[in-house]
Amino acid sequence: MKTYTIYQSQQDVLEKISDGQVITVQLGEMKVYVKRVGLSFFAFERYCPHSGADLKKAHIHEGRELTCPMHGYCYDMVNGREVRGRSRSLKVFGAILSENGLEIFGSY
Ligand code: FES
Repeated sequence: MKTYTIYQSQQDVLEKISDGQVITVQLGEMKVYVKRVGLSFFAFERYCPHSGADLKKAHIHEGRELTCPMHGYCYDMVNGREVRGRSRSLKVFGAILSENGLEIFGSY
């Protein structure tokens, strides 16, 4: 499993990504969104598996579920599954704030 580290330190990450902000990150050949919610970070594919809506404005509830702004499908942020099984899973990636920066890992 490959790990990508963005920015140089924890402080750097917190200064460059404000609370609620979504940035685009290149992981190998794939671009993903990284969203900050408080001190938590979520990395996920950019387009909804249901019908391709851009997930930049998706809301993440209680750090557990992402809701697509188009039709309201909800994806579990741990395993990517649509909570009612209405579409394929969303690709989600681990994102951990460390003293070296923001580490993003998973299969790309
Ligand atoms: S495009 Fe996301 S729920 Fe339909």
